[in-house]
Amino acid sequence: KHFGSISKRNVPPGPWGFPIVGHLPLLGDKPQETFIRWRETYGDVFKIRMGSWDTIVINGQHAVRHALERIDDAYSGRPNFYTMKVLKDLNSNENTLAFGEFDSTWFVHRKLASKALRTFSNTRNHSVQDLITEEAMYMTDALLKHNGRPFFPDSEIKTSVGSVIYQLCYGRGQDVRKDDLFQTFLKSADEFIKFTGAGNPVDVMPWLRHIMPWKTYKFRQLVTKFKKFRDIKIQEHKQDFAIDHLRDITDAFLAEDLTDIDDKCKEGQISRNRLLSTLQDLFGAGFSTTSTTLQWAILFMASNPDAMKRVQAEIDTVVGSGRNVELSDRSKMPLTEATILETMRLSSIVPFALPHYTTMDTILNGYNIKKDTVVFVNLHSLAFDNNTWNNPNAFQPERFFSEDRQLDKEKANLFLPFGLGRRRCLGEYLALTELFIFFTTLIQRCNFVRPDSETYAMDGVFGLTYNSKPYKVSVVERT
Ligand code: HEM
Repeated sequence: KHFGSISKRNVPPGPWGFPIVGHLPLLGDKPQETFIRWRETYGDVFKIRMGSWDTIVINGQHAVRHALERIDDAYSGRPNFYTMKVLKDLNSNENTLAFGEFDSTWFVHRKLASKALRTFSNTRNHSVQDLITEEAMYMTDALLKHNGRPFFPDSEIKTSVGSVIYQLCYGRGQDVRKDDLFQTFLKSADEFIKFTGAGNPVDVMPWLRHIMPWKTYKFRQLVTKFKKFRDIKIQEHKQDFAIDHLRDITDAFLAEDLTDIDDKCKEGQISRNRLLSTLQDLFGAGFSTTSTTLQWAILFMASNPDAMKRVQAEIDTVVGSGRNVELSDRSKMPLTEATILETMRLSSIVPFALPHYTTMDTILNGYNIKKDTVVFVNLHSLAFDNNTWNNPNAFQPERFFSEDRQLDKEKANLFLPFGLGRRRCLGEYLALTELFIFFTTLIQRCNFVRPDSETYAMDGVFGLTYNSKPYKVSVVERT
């Protein structure tokens, strides 16, 4: 219910925090684990302070679904954190899709972005499938070039995953491996993730930028670099743009008639500049998430050779070795699907979604929550919930099976790697397509082996996405 004014009573409980900095120094290097401990003491909804920002952390299926599925959109905002202000400032003072506030223009923006992404990542005409398969083959060849010697696989993974979203956004048939701009972009993307993760001190205590000016300077430099990259591509597109031959998402945005927004959206006029800035969102959100998941997948396979052999047996039975895996094989490959789900669950790469913000006074689990409260949706708490999963820290793909060893879709819905509600991931369909084809192609052709000299750390590095720590692997061609 919407309350006009909410009394201070009945606010969520929470741990003690410091003056000025709040709970920031208490989060540790893995805030998701700290939150799990606090949940045990304070319950599913607890309150903390991030610098001067009142914040609630929402944990567990019940409370997360209750908050994100509300029809009044009380939790669909985004806070105006420092990094988000910089993004807006450098985008001619216009909001971006992923970090922008929740208003009528955002609705138009999301609708048009979704339409363009759907048009160019639609698997019905096989074209996207072909693109991903081509990149999966590139990736596999590149990994096999190391001839079984231990190496860090991240660069090969990032290049191929980056190439998919690059070609969808900026045109097919380009060889990103020879494109200096693209290579610079890849190097910068990791830095961006570090800046935008929950708990970045400068975000919630912007005065820190006067004490640590180099930090914010670097972030501004990064965003400027991304914007230059996008602007160069847009200029190139404008030169040979043809309305009856749209080649990619950039063309789709250039072609959109922004005076013809339908009735539901008429309050929210959107500028061409804002729409085109989506290219940055798609690249940022679509690249690091998928490549991080694949890096975890290889780590899990090399650490669990029996699980890898079971998936290989399924691929051999359904596909064999004489042809590429196709999306139409997916329904016959429950173990492969379960292994991808288990990889996503156990890596929990976006532990707190993107930060949300309340758009009105509201009530959750009986507590009063004020308008303008930062909300961390603890997706990690769903993925590791002891009440839902038996031994949640173990890698057990079969946990997603029904009794007849088929994929149990209800179990798959017990964690929410893509979030839920209005702000749910825009690229879920593309991400699942990519994960399926990349993963199966790799496993069909390669064995991933942990070198004797390596001990693998199963914990990762916290940022906007939760990355695996750098690791070496041996990749050996299957005979
Ligand atoms: C937002 C997960 C891949 C585009 C999000 C959010 C999550 C997420 C958790 C935040 C939801 C929230 O704030 O409640 C993932 C995962 C991926 C993935 C786990 C891959 C394994 C992609 C891809 C694209 C994409 C491939 C596009 C090409 C976006 C966009 C948003 C978003 C644009 C912002 C939506 C908004 O604020 O309206 N994603 N994502 N994501 N994702 Fe993804």
